[in-house]
Amino acid sequence: MKLGIGSDHAGFAYKGKLIALLRKKGYEVVDFGTDSPASVDYPDIAHPLAKAVENGTVDAGIALCGTGNGMALTLNKHQGIRAGLAWNSEIARLVKAHNNANVLVMPARFISYAMATRIVNTWLTTAFEGARHERRISKIPCA
Ligand code: RB5
Repeated sequence: MKLGIGSDHAGFAYKGKLIALLRKKGYEVVDFGTDSPASVDYPDIAHPLAKAVENGTVDAGIALCGTGNGMALTLNKHQGIRAGLAWNSEIARLVKAHNNANVLVMPARFISYAMATRIVNTWLTTAFEGARHERRISKIPCA
């Protein structure tokens, strides 16, 4: 599975550690930046990541910013993106099982790195339940 990952400066440290962890687990990971802890604007990272998920360059994405909201708001402007914010393992499970989020978003300033790893592992290993949830997510894109 090929994952895209991106963050602004607030998520930069977690992103680097997550990339190393995911590669160690055997995932192919494409880094969409940012490349330093210097201040950047999250849409400059989020839009290229969203396009890569939409066009299949990567299978799914992970995004981090301080609250997660800037990334989620930007990613969800793309019709093919279901970016879901998760700050604990149960929400990570539900955002895949019920919402089939194709981008996982985390609030780096409000969770520990250990929690971030639990969230990522849960989201990656949970299956979408389909059925009524398939009907619901099919109604998300606007005409
Ligand atoms: C950066 O200071 C912060 O605004 C950003 O990481 C994010 O939380 C925005 O939604």
